[in-house]
Amino acid sequence: MCGIISVLSFRDNISKDLISALERLEYRGYDSAGIAYFDENSNLQRIRTVGKVKLLKEVVQKFDIKSNIGIGHTRWATHGKVTEFNAHPHVADGVAIVHNGIIENYQELRNSLISEGYEFESETDTEVVAKLIASNIKSGKDFIEAFKSAISKLSGTFAIVAIYEKEPNLLLGAKKGSPMAVGLSSDKQSCYIASDAVALSTLADELAYLEEGDIVVVRKFDHLSFEIFENGKDKIEREIVPNKVSLNDVAKNGYESFMLKEISEEAMVARRTFERFKYDINLSKYDSVSIVACGTSYYAGLLSKYWIEEIAKVHVDVEIASEFRYRNPVFSKNSLYIFISQSGETIDTLCAMRLVKEAGIKTLALVNVETSSIAREADIVVKTEAGVEIGVASTKAFVAQTLSLLMMCKKDIDIEAIERSINSVLNSQYDFAKMANKLKNSKSLFYIGRGTNYPISLEGALKIKELSYISAEGYPAGEIKHGPIAIIDENVYTIALAPFDNHFEKTISNTQEILARNGKIFLITTENSRELLHGLDKHEKVDSLFLPEIYSLYQPFALTTVIHLLAYNTAKAKGYDVDKPRNLAKSVTVE
Ligand code: AGP
Ligand code: GLU
Repeated sequence: MCGIISVLSFRDNISKDLISALERLEYRGYDSAGIAYFDENSNLQRIRTVGKVKLLKEVVQKFDIKSNIGIGHTRWATHGKVTEFNAHPHVADGVAIVHNGIIENYQELRNSLISEGYEFESETDTEVVAKLIASNIKSGKDFIEAFKSAISKLSGTFAIVAIYEKEPNLLLGAKKGSPMAVGLSSDKQSCYIASDAVALSTLADELAYLEEGDIVVVRKFDHLSFEIFENGKDKIEREIVPNKVSLNDVAKNGYESFMLKEISEEAMVARRTFERFKYDINLSKYDSVSIVACGTSYYAGLLSKYWIEEIAKVHVDVEIASEFRYRNPVFSKNSLYIFISQSGETIDTLCAMRLVKEAGIKTLALVNVETSSIAREADIVVKTEAGVEIGVASTKAFVAQTLSLLMMCKKDIDIEAIERSINSVLNSQYDFAKMANKLKNSKSLFYIGRGTNYPISLEGALKIKELSYISAEGYPAGEIKHGPIAIIDENVYTIALAPFDNHFEKTISNTQEILARNGKIFLITTENSRELLHGLDKHEKVDSLFLPEIYSLYQPFALTTVIHLLAYNTAKAKGYDVDKPRNLAKSVTVE
């Protein structure tokens, strides 16, 4: 969701820090953006734009901003349309704030403030916080007490930063449910509060991550310092850790997009995952394993169910986090719950994990951000070695997740074979752009597969949906005849994942059923199936991609790169922004 950045500095060119951090934060949300700062007369100034950060940057660069303190925000709207008036920062009587999260009791707070005579300019939940702080100041509290009092009245989730024009040497932050970090620049001339380490990758070498209920006070006197207060009360030292996000992680390094860069890293990520997987996790000792996640991470869990049950002989349930947490699950004591999350901040997954922890059940977090909330609260943490993933559509992280899950039940894997299979796709001469042009105007698409090809079908459908905005469904190949085949006609393409495995013949039968109804097929198979196709790949309504033969256990890794490249090329064929698809954000920290 939203990205927040703020800085208190001895330097007077902080607007550059704000904009560079917002450019790196855009993956968290990008429908509008804004900054607020105190000018040379210590008056509060604000600039907001609708659209991507580059529009804000163009406007900001027209001003010769000299300021030591400022806040910035890139928004993913939850309350209020995407307009300049709803863009953050929000202000009230010299107070300015930015917010990531949802204030669930904003309506009652808004009504109370209106009865005090406040007028609201936005439709957002966030604006009530600025007015509440201002109201507390008006009632005689100093800025810090006014901030703490306002925070104590909020329910919901938030990472909030506030500044006040009469206290230009103070920067305040509060964290509950949304991520927040605080850090000093290496020259100690600036102090930052931001959503994450990515925002500060070129600004702060060390960071402290706030915990639930923490409030942070940044002060500037003859030096800069920050203090963290647990639940806003007792001073507490949070561990200072190196900022492991490097400039290389957040640069495209010559690729036209982060997504293409990250797909191209999938073989390297598989190798790094294999080499760094030093975890001794014995799944067989549990009576059952449950996997809880969202989106692509959920599909990684679905894929691993086939492997864990077959190899570790343990029953596996895989659940959508937002459903799991509200269905009053029944727990068995000797079970393991695995929570998969690239960001480690997905609120649905985080809250599901908290529910399981309350029941005293063992929790394992499989996360790509080891400093994230899910990582910090789990009993066991397995870090995926995808590296920083910026593209909103998750790609290389899925490879890291699935291989990590496979290695939880099988250590003796042939990593060279997996690398070869992924690289055979990355280096393939296959014209994905040409196939994408055939798909791009489809009114709907199916992805079908059996066995482990089914979760990959689901991932393929999600990728092309979230990048090309085409309605697409992943389906078990055997299920198409139970209703969905009614949709099939000459306008519908079905991507059939049919590598040569023990499901091959039946999946080919399912594609025949589709062809019999004038459907079009993009058949993804392997070289050792050619003879068995009996010319199907020559059918006028069939396009085919033949992958090199590969051991069936490792086929999902090659197919993953295929469906990622297909989605990437289809979005490109439609002229869409592959790194920042409409309506989406990289980390969904609101319900
Ligand atoms: C994947 O491409 C999507 N961006 C989305 O489904 C994502 O997988 C989901 O929001 C879960 O995110 P997480 O892995 O960070 O928890
Ligand atoms: N709820 C706030 C708004 O709608 C913040 C949204 C978010 O964090 O994504 O502006």
